[in-house]
Amino acid sequence: MTETTAPESSVFPDFAAIDTVTCIGAGTIGGGWAAYLLAQGYRVKIWDPAPDAGKKFSRLLDAAWPALAELDMVDEADRTAWSVHTDLAEAVAGTGFVQESAPEDLALKRGLLAQIDAACEPNVVIGSSTSGYSMTEMATEAIHPERLVVGHPFNPPYLIPLVEVVGGAQSSAAAVDWAAGFYSHIGKSVIRMDREVPGFIANRLQEAQWREALHMVEQGEATVEQIDRSITDGPGLRWPFQGPMLTFHLAGGEGGMAHMLDHFGPSLKSPWTRLTAPELSQSLRDDVVAGCEVEAGPRTIPDLVAHRDAGIIALRRLTAQLAEPRDTESASEASVSVRAATMGVTGRLDDYVTEVVPEWIDYNGHMSEAFYVLVFGFATDQVMDQLGLDAAYRESAKASLYTVESHIRYLDEAALGDRLAVVPHLVSVGEKKLHLAYEMYVGDRLVSTEEIMALHVDQAEDRVVPFLAPVTERITQIETNRPDWVGRAIG
Ligand SMILES: NC(=O)c1ccc[n+]([C@@H]2O[C@H](COP(=O)([O-])OP(=O)(O)OC[C@H]3O[C@@H](n4cnc5c(N)ncnc54)[C@H](O)[C@@H]3O)[C@@H](O)[C@H]2O)c1
Repeated sequence: MTETTAPESSVFPDFAAIDTVTCIGAGTIGGGWAAYLLAQGYRVKIWDPAPDAGKKFSRLLDAAWPALAELDMVDEADRTAWSVHTDLAEAVAGTGFVQESAPEDLALKRGLLAQIDAACEPNVVIGSSTSGYSMTEMATEAIHPERLVVGHPFNPPYLIPLVEVVGGAQSSAAAVDWAAGFYSHIGKSVIRMDREVPGFIANRLQEAQWREALHMVEQGEATVEQIDRSITDGPGLRWPFQGPMLTFHLAGGEGGMAHMLDHFGPSLKSPWTRLTAPELSQSLRDDVVAGCEVEAGPRTIPDLVAHRDAGIIALRRLTAQLAEPRDTESASEASVSVRAATMGVTGRLDDYVTEVVPEWIDYNGHMSEAFYVLVFGFATDQVMDQLGLDAAYRESAKASLYTVESHIRYLDEAALGDRLAVVPHLVSVGEKKLHLAYEMYVGDRLVSTEEIMALHVDQAEDRVVPFLAPVTERITQIETNRPDWVGRAIG
């Protein structure tokens, strides 16, 4: 890509001076951008020819606002600070930035970008959400193509951080830099690409998988459900923590990516996918290995493994919680009834199992006492899920279990890689409280015990309240048990 030199970056507005932005097109993506920008404290002007554009955006905002409040909202955000305009000049008057998200149609984008360009002050950068067109092909009719750039988001743009930024042949480097800086300023995770590539980076990767999946269905090689589960219960669990490159770096064990490529390199010639692999030349091998080393930085392979494993544990617990049905019954009742159906009339609390990871090891070479507490905490989370005090319940009942007292005994050591099995006991139950006890084992060796008293707290009113009926019902189905060590004093 050749970037022209004008205009200078100094002509573009200071990020801090911008209080108004414009969204052209307010469908799935443009509306998502508008919601996100509102949550970042901007006044948002919308231009969209659909007669019901305002109503549609209002519905989108109803759904997006609570999600934004959870993750990405500044204190001064005002969800009413938006307006829909029928006049383009009015929509861009006083704006500091324009994001175009009209339908993916090259002729339409060409004409529209030229129209926006003609209506905007020359120092305003215009970003396009296009999924795959290059700015070189979209900017052909604009008078100031130098301030046109691609800022490609992912749906929903109010929650997914990634924005891929790339200019066209006539975009100025200053405009591309400014756009990348602005998206970062508003909290996005920006990839500034140096070259235009159809589909950018993430869509190309996604598209390769999508096309292979369609081939597999067409050829009867896999069902739709098998394809989805192969990702959600397989590699998809690793990707939030490590992308495809670092994931394969770890697939090489202690030898990392170098071993991975030397070991599996010949498989690139096997028909494992319909996409043809490049020749694994020495320079490609070295570039990939060096790239992994740069990305890993000071983190060793065991560090990366520990990070990945902690992430997968957290994610599996979360997806299990969110998998509960939520149709006709209230969320909390539904989660309890599913548990009841799967557990029988009298049940026991499930053991919680985990493994000692490197970051839990202290200077003595054993698991540090702080992590005993952490493991018991995870066990309590699992007990809460089993009793129906899960995420859906916490959300709907606005109540949760608070630990108010605990007593831990450290009886033996746990070493790196030890499998920890935590056996929970329901010692006693009150209308508003639970007395729980845990035994932590490595094999048949008892390494620690914990006893906790937990109260059921209404978080909105900040007071102790009775459990809701479905939870009480569930609790009564668990047998109580008081191990003889419970209540044992120190010493
Ligand atoms: N949907 C996705 O997952 C996704 C992801 C990333 C990028 N994109 C890109 O975002 C852009 C918008 O896609 P979408 O999914 O939001 O489409 P959409 O159909 O949901 O929304 C398009 C909006 O543009 C409006 N519109 C129609 N003609 C217009 C015009 N001439 N000027 C301004 N607005 C006009 C429509 O009324 C509609 O509200 C496309 O370029 C698309 O490729 C989409």
